[in-house]
This record gives sequence, C-alpha cells and structure tokens, in this order.
Amino acid sequence: MPNVQKETEADLIPIFIMGKRYLVPESLTIMKAIEYAGYQFIRGCGCRGGICGACSTVYRKAGDYKIYSGLACQTVVEPNMYLTQIPFFPALRREYDYETMEPVAESIYQLYPELFRCVACNACTKICPMDVQVLDYISALKRGDLEAATRISFDCIQCGLCASRCMGELPQYHIAQLARRLHGGKLAPRAEHLRQVVESIAAGKFADVMEELKALPVDELRKLYTERELEPAMSDEQWRPSNNAGL
Ligand code: FES
Repeated sequence: MPNVQKETEADLIPIFIMGKRYLVPESLTIMKAIEYAGYQFIRGCGCRGGICGACSTVYRKAGDYKIYSGLACQTVVEPNMYLTQIPFFPALRREYDYETMEPVAESIYQLYPELFRCVACNACTKICPMDVQVLDYISALKRGDLEAATRISFDCIQCGLCASRCMGELPQYHIAQLARRLHGGKLAPRAEHLRQVVESIAAGKFADVMEELKALPVDELRKLYTERELEPAMSDEQWRPSNNAGL
C-alpha cells in the first residue's frame, strides 16, 4: 500500500509508476520514491550510491516529447514524471577466451565489428550519467589506442545507457570493459607495491589485525572505514606504461 499518510499533501508531488498516480515527497530519488509508493526492488538496484550502474532508468514527463534518463538512485523525482518498466536494451556482450587474446585493438574489432558503425553522433556521451566521454573512447579504439580507451572509460559504471541511444547499435560499455581488461591485465605494468602487499597477506601478516577488526562493534568499524587512508588517484601521466614502470 502507498505510504502517503506520513506526509501532508503540500509536501508531496504526483508521479506515475506503471500508469498509476502516486503522491511522493519531492526530495526523494526515483528509487526511494518507488519504494515509498510501496514497491520493492529485488533487481535493478545495487549500491544506491551511483557506482554500480544497476539502476539505469528512462522516464518521460507529461507533455514533453523527450525520453529522459538517469540513475534511479541519484535522480530526484519531478512532478508528473512517468516511470515504466521496460525490457532490457539488447547490448550483447560477446564471449571470448581472455587468456589467449592479444592485447591489441584488432582483438576488439574481431569481437565487436560494429565499432565501425559509429557515426560520431555523440548521443552516447550526452546520456552518460558519469560524464564519461564515450565517443572519445570509441574513437580512440578505432585508432587502435587501447591505453586511451582504458583511461577515458575508467569511470564507466556499466549502466548501459550509452547503448540505449546508439543508432549504430554498439554495446559501448562492453567494448570499453574489454579494452580495460586487455590493457590492465596484459599491457599495464604490474604494481610492485600491490604484489608485495598480496604476498604479505598470504604470509599472514595481517591475520591478527583482521581478528581484531572482526571483533569490533559495527559503529567503530564504520568509523574506521570512513576515516581510512585512500590511495591517491593516478595522474594522466602515470597511466602511460613508459612512465610508471617503476610503480
Ligand atoms: S543502485 Fe548502484 S548506481 Fe544506482
């Protein structure tokens, strides 16, 4: 049952879910508004933080020709927004044997020849909720530049909205994922500090600390996690294999 009795009518706005009108608080995201209306997510919802890409959503507004899009966990509802469940976009991911693949653009061309159907309309970039320059990484791949495609697509969250707008029917996010796998796994230099840490973990160096952490109350654990020291992001220069061989 809709949960509208908790708010006064003045705080609520109408939205339409599967054609049915609901009144929901105007400050909610699409995801929370749908839950507020009484629905439960068992799919299409993951991190709730704009990172996992599971909640890509298209919607319409009354009297407006356009189809809008966004992440349901990040996009705030608007009056008379129309939300409807639609089937998936058929962005096919090809199967491949990663171990035997050469880390060159031709490997991608063989699996995704539709790459060359791109007409550079840039609709993919315009719809991306992460502001990834989708057309730029597709163009980089056409030039055979795996490194650039990896770097430019790095913030992709695999939501698939790019593919939903592509007149060439490219599954851009699958293509970029393969580029990152090939570059990251077969071309980029190994991170020496990471190898050392993995070895020390395997040798049991952190076993005692891990036991201590497991015994902590959740609040303390959360505080530690929030205040943890983060590794700084790599600069563009560090991305170049010739520049970070010493990492
Ligand atoms: S639920 Fe993960 S991006 Fe929205």
